[in-house]
Formats: sequence, structure tokens, C-alpha cells
Amino acid sequence: MPKFIKLCGTKALAGAIFALLLVGCSSTSYAPESEASRDLANSITVYKSPFCLCCNDWITHLESNAFSVASENGLDTASVKQRWGVPATMQGCHTGVWNNQYVFEGHVPARLIRQFLANPPKGSIGLAVPGMPKGSPGMYRGKDFEPYVVYAILPGGEYRFYEKVTAPEAG
Ligand code: CU
Ligand code: CU
Repeated sequence: MPKFIKLCGTKALAGAIFALLLVGCSSTSYAPESEASRDLANSITVYKSPFCLCCNDWITHLESNAFSVASENGLDTASVKQRWGVPATMQGCHTGVWNNQYVFEGHVPARLIRQFLANPPKGSIGLAVPGMPKGSPGMYRGKDFEPYVVYAILPGGEYRFYEKVTAPEAG
């Protein structure tokens, strides 16, 4: 399993798995969700592959930090990232969208999502943790941790430093 987790963000493996498992999948596109009845301030919709386990662990992290999460499984994760303006170099395995407004790409800590929402840097459209750093939320495996940088995403494929995370999240 660790091998799969490590590789689940790579397009090649995803393509191979999708090709194999497509047969059992009834839908390959995301259905827009009605958010009318949800607590929008604390709701995040997570677009993810049904085959990536660390996405579920990130969702658990969000939920234990009082977010309500709707997950949308789909195979065309690339088009979701494109639609929400996630630059190629900023991509992680899943894409979280807050209130159809801000995007949180990859294993972004809930703490920084709240910090961002309370005071979004001017012009930014969200946050990203590229790749899958060891010890980021949803990527806890034993005591492994490597410091990682969270970036603010700007329109037009731009991004800039937002914050460096130097310790695992408390929750
Ligand atoms: Cu992941
Ligand atoms: Cu993921």
C-alpha cells in the first residue's frame, strides 16, 4: 500500500489504474453539487480520484477540524485543476473547493485554510501544497516529516510563497 500511496499523484500510474478499473465505474465526470443547504463557511468540496487513499485521510483531517466535506470522485482530476486555475507545478493529488470561490490543492493543513479564509492575500485564489510531502495532513506515516512550503495561488498560473510548515499539525 505505501507504494501506491506514494505514487497515487502520478499521472502515469493513475492512467494505468484508471484504464484497468474504468469498467466498473459508472461515471467519469463530476456532477455539480447543490450547496444551498450546507453551512458554506465551513464546507469544502473535494474532487479526487476514487483510488487515492491519502485523499480520504486529508478529508478526515478537515472533518476533525470542523469542516464539512463533500467528496466528488472522478477520474478527470486534470480538468478540475485546470478549471480552478491550479498551476501545473502546484498540483497535488486532490482539489478542495470552498464555496465555489477558493481552491485548496493538495495536503493543505486545515489551520492554514482557516487562516487564508480569514484574510485572503490580495488577488489570490487559494492555497497549494504541491506533491505529497511526508507528514503533511493525510500523509502521516509514522514519524516521518519533512518541512514543506504552502503557496498562494494567483490567477494566470502564478503563485507565491505563503507559509512554511516546519512541524506536523496538532490535529
Ligand atoms: Cu495525497
Ligand atoms: Cu489526495
